[in-house]
Amino acid sequence: LIQILMKKIDKKKDIGNLKHIAFIMDGNGRWAKKRGLPRNVGHKFGYEKMKVVLKRCCELGVPVVSVYAFSTENWNRSKEEVDAIFGIVRDNLVADTPLFQEWNVKISTMGDTSKFPKDLQDALSDIKKSTESNTGTILNLCINYGGRADVCYAVNQVLAKKLAKVTEEELGKHLYGANLPDPDLIVRTSGEQRMSNFLIWQGAYAELLFLKQNWPSMSPKLVDSCITKFKKRNRRFGRVK
Ligand code: FPP
Repeated sequence: LIQILMKKIDKKKDIGNLKHIAFIMDGNGRWAKKRGLPRNVGHKFGYEKMKVVLKRCCELGVPVVSVYAFSTENWNRSKEEVDAIFGIVRDNLVADTPLFQEWNVKISTMGDTSKFPKDLQDALSDIKKSTESNTGTILNLCINYGGRADVCYAVNQVLAKKLAKVTEEELGKHLYGANLPDPDLIVRTSGEQRMSNFLIWQGAYAELLFLKQNWPSMSPKLVDSCITKFKKRNRRFGRVK
């Protein structure tokens, strides 16, 4: 019996070669609408579910978890909705700092946060600073992030160096998250099957998984099933197996 139990525990911990899982947290608005709730409430529940997913990833020992919290295109939403998402970062994320400490989570960001209100920028830099020595899972918040903007930003930095040629390696050094492994698995909820300008360079060889559930319906079990599916994928990176 002990052996069977040990096997079960082992199985739970086996994440294969997964180093970086990235989530497109889609469907908050639809989730709320179905329940007659305002869209902002959907985002609030979405944030809470992000923590549930993060906790499971911490338990499993996933090194990096990225979440698409605000895209460069999300500025086109109503001011009320943009403010609500910023409010979650400013209030909830900051209030949860002790939890991230307890889970040994290090917070990092990708995206141009210089376009944010000052108090939001301060909140983000405070939370990054206070978790910087944590050694567990990295929670990488993609915030005011866009894949094309990311590539342009990197190209401009390479141009400023007056190099004669742009190489993949050189460009890669200037992309957001250059210090992080590329995502191995990108999961999008809500049944949509698009990348929506998310990690277009870094995700060039990522496995893609599309779930029908809206983001606020995520669960630890669904995280486990994503990882099980990932482990069954035959990754070849252009080679012949
Ligand atoms: C997409 O769903 C979700 C967003 C654009 C925002 C995601 C933000 C959060 C979950 C809160 C902030 C999180 C962190 C980690 C600080 P949608 O609104 O497009 O859904 P819909 O397509 O059903 O309308």
